[in-house]
Amino acid sequence: MSRQLHARRIEGIDKNVWVEFTQLAAEYKAVNLGQGFPDFPPPSFVQEAFCKAVSGGFALHQYTRAFGHPPLVKILAKFFGRIVGRDIDPLDDILVTVGAYQALFCTFQALIDDGDEVIIIEPFFDCYQPMVKMAGGKCVYVPLRPKKDKCETSADWVLSPGELASKFTSHTKAIILNTPNNPLGKVFNREELQVISDLCIKHDVLCISDEVYEWLTYNGAKHIKIASLPGMWERTITIGSAGKTFSATGWKVGWAIGSTHILKHLRTVHQNSVYHCPTAAQEAVAHGFQREFEQFGKPESYFIQLPANLQVKRQKLAQCLKSVGLQPIIPEGGYFMMADISAIKANLPDLPGQDEPYDHRFVKWLIKNKRLATIPVSAFYSHEHCKDFPNYIRFCFAKEDFTLNAAEKILQEWSESK
Ligand SMILES: Cc1ncc(COP(=O)(O)O)c(C=O)c1O
Repeated sequence: MSRQLHARRIEGIDKNVWVEFTQLAAEYKAVNLGQGFPDFPPPSFVQEAFCKAVSGGFALHQYTRAFGHPPLVKILAKFFGRIVGRDIDPLDDILVTVGAYQALFCTFQALIDDGDEVIIIEPFFDCYQPMVKMAGGKCVYVPLRPKKDKCETSADWVLSPGELASKFTSHTKAIILNTPNNPLGKVFNREELQVISDLCIKHDVLCISDEVYEWLTYNGAKHIKIASLPGMWERTITIGSAGKTFSATGWKVGWAIGSTHILKHLRTVHQNSVYHCPTAAQEAVAHGFQREFEQFGKPESYFIQLPANLQVKRQKLAQCLKSVGLQPIIPEGGYFMMADISAIKANLPDLPGQDEPYDHRFVKWLIKNKRLATIPVSAFYSHEHCKDFPNYIRFCFAKEDFTLNAAEKILQEWSESK
């Protein structure tokens, strides 16, 4: 074919950090603290619900309602209605999707037009940028910056309210918020959310709130839904993931929740692309939420137990990183911990690949030479700003203790050999 094959909207977005580093980790059989998935099983109550769903009659093997399996949208409406303190309509205000990824895709395709500006807070989950671009939008970046005097936890990384305000223009259509944030683990507090919400209201801008790690907060940090702030329900799309909620990332069940005047446009994209999501997985997730609705706030609740378990793993990883001279930034929420590699950089030989950011070269070296996989943090920055953050790597601690122990052994042996 002599004519150009590819559509222009996919130009410049062919590289993907997950494809590259997951392949490399597999090739070198590395201990994998890279990609964000638990290597422990989901709780038995959702596993049993899934088994029951697939061993029943024909119905749960066939298509269900296109915009969400009825038992699932009903319980999501009941569950999240209680949290945001308003009635959520299960049929109009919720769309079930193939993971949070598809909820994000439907949102950008449905709401972002050619030339619309979308504000993205850095560091950001990497797919936001290509999705905005594919929708014809323009990304406008605003970085969270570490405070000058102290940078021990993710709470020490803050937005400058003045800088944030300067990014809102007459072309701004939406801002994307991710709390708890991937990769930093920042949990935005009420004051920070209020600054964002005031700007959204002032400039008549939508808020796309990616809350896939909403149950995972540590040391008393509190996740607050921006949709629950006054004036925000009407302009917020809240995105969630059963994969992260029930430690079942392979089930790929996600959702978008928001006012029907917004959600109806997401349904248009969904009905013309994916249309139905897998029925049995939705049935199992519905059972999971029903159980959690009844156990809400009790010690038996998975939404209490999972963060309590992960908090111990977070501590374990932080201690291990400190002991080998890596500087961890303790996350307030989520699956991940960023660590500063500047201190150990000096002891390393010149790493190959001068045209790549240093963290990419370091992570490749670590996989190939030490058989330990992590993710370079500059991948969570725009092209403009990635050069300013070349010294951080991201570890996932949602892993079995034996995986964390294996990583610790590698780091200790390396440290002793220096
Ligand atoms: C911030 C964030 N949003 C969305 C997703 C995608 O979630 P899902 O696996 O449900 O598609 C992820 C997955 O890692 C994530 O970290």
